[in-house]
Amino acid sequence: MTDKWEHLDAAMTVSSKKTIQELFKEDPARAEKFSLEAAGWYLDYSKNRIDEKVMKSLMKLARESGLKEEIERMFTGKKINATEGRAVLHTALRNLDPKAKIKVDGKDVLPGVRRVLAQMGDFSDSVRRGQWKGFSGRKIKNIVNIGIGGSDLGPVMANLALTPYTKRNLKFYFVSNVDSTHLAETLRSVKAAETLFIVASKTFTTQETMSNALAAKEWLISEARKAGLSLKDAKGAVAKHFVALSTAAKEVAEFGIDVKNMFGFWDWVGGRYSLPGAIGLSLMIAIGRVNYKKLLKGYYKMDRHFRTARFERNMPVILALLGILYSNGYGAESYCCLPYDQYLARFPAYLQQMDMESNGKCVDRDGNQSYRETGPIVWGEPGTNGQHSFYQLIHQGTHLIPCDFIGCCRTHNPIGDLHDKLMANFFAQTEALAFGKSADECRKEGVPENLVPFKTFEGNKPTNTLLCEKLTPETLGALVALYEHKVFVQGVIWNIYSFDQWGVQLGKVLAKGVLADLTAKKPSGKHDASTNALVAKYRKALGR
Ligand code: F6P
Repeated sequence: MTDKWEHLDAAMTVSSKKTIQELFKEDPARAEKFSLEAAGWYLDYSKNRIDEKVMKSLMKLARESGLKEEIERMFTGKKINATEGRAVLHTALRNLDPKAKIKVDGKDVLPGVRRVLAQMGDFSDSVRRGQWKGFSGRKIKNIVNIGIGGSDLGPVMANLALTPYTKRNLKFYFVSNVDSTHLAETLRSVKAAETLFIVASKTFTTQETMSNALAAKEWLISEARKAGLSLKDAKGAVAKHFVALSTAAKEVAEFGIDVKNMFGFWDWVGGRYSLPGAIGLSLMIAIGRVNYKKLLKGYYKMDRHFRTARFERNMPVILALLGILYSNGYGAESYCCLPYDQYLARFPAYLQQMDMESNGKCVDRDGNQSYRETGPIVWGEPGTNGQHSFYQLIHQGTHLIPCDFIGCCRTHNPIGDLHDKLMANFFAQTEALAFGKSADECRKEGVPENLVPFKTFEGNKPTNTLLCEKLTPETLGALVALYEHKVFVQGVIWNIYSFDQWGVQLGKVLAKGVLADLTAKKPSGKHDASTNALVAKYRKALGR
């Protein structure tokens, strides 16, 4: 049997020989050849260092990684998150096939999914219609989601992305950081009697979330007291102002939340994949259950495409393989996500957790040190802002940074020719990156010889262009699923476990010990010399 990575070497031998400029000269039809549509998205990947031979070799790499079988194992609920002994079934959250059955430990999970979705729908209707009342009988006007990581980034990203679909008289806030400023500034903007807190935490133990939730609870009780409620009634008001999104019923009840108002999910949904389930409650309140269903439909369409399309016409597979070509073939350390739509401003941040928490692993599935580079660094900003900031480095710097350009043909907010200008930049940037500007072109334009090297653009910078008609709940769902599956494919090829996140544990544990030392009468001095000195400095500043 061949080492599957030989196929990458074969791909590289061809890929490294020709520039993107040369490839376009040779084959003017490549834009058509290297493009496809799926679930409302058009992907043009022709501005990459590829030709048919390169793609053929990359497809072999995918096949020899057992990708087909792994996709089925995920969709059918096999326990592919082996280090935690869990199935990975975020796709079940948006499985809209009424006849489908997906079993985990012999039990079909879909009836539970549908039950929670219906519970979310009823609850969000009652908030949107003003039927859910606070302690003084007033309608809810403010919704504060308290959560972090996957319990924050998805709702934040999607709430902004789908702003045109939101009920504008409801205001949404997202508190994630354990920095008290985050909570304090939010509480300054809302009235307790009109505020609903959604405590979003899969485990209901996360320090940041639970500290913020407890502080919010104290605040609500004290505001209710100020409004004239007895201590008992003020405490009772918690049930009207707090709901929970969690898998941990016992901890939720202990907090004082009525378990009727707990929206459950399951250990087979990873935090960073949890947006289309209970974690999406704030989003459902914002956009309503009908639009939320459309979001799920978009996810589901991309899921079906991913599961059924042959690899050569499979958008997540193609994106994943191109990423591998640059990471493992060219040694690119990062890729850049560039949405040309202000509503997608938080998409890069969302993608960072999805990709880096999933594939930022250096140990393979056999417990050995991975000898290949794995998950890349993901970064990005909305497009034209980036152009006036870091694009200089992408165009003329020394690092190779493949970019994903994401744009929409129609805007929700037509004003004069602004959208044409935005999209002109969107298209022009990929053109500039691919084709550059030669020294000769500079000279022809009359650039003085001493400035020619500075004004030359090498080009040959790879980009993918993702284009949809309009950013809607459906296209957003499909976009998220596209990247989820891309990340999955890469994890399979790298032979790493993409669905655990042990790398976040150590810091959490050490923070507990440090916290004790920050507040103790006498610090333990048990840390390293640097940490001990920092703790001492902090204590001194606070007069401890
Ligand atoms: O930081 C690690 C992590 O477990 C993420 O994976 C997760 O999204 C986040 O913390 C929040 O976890 P929880 O929803 O349990 O509060």
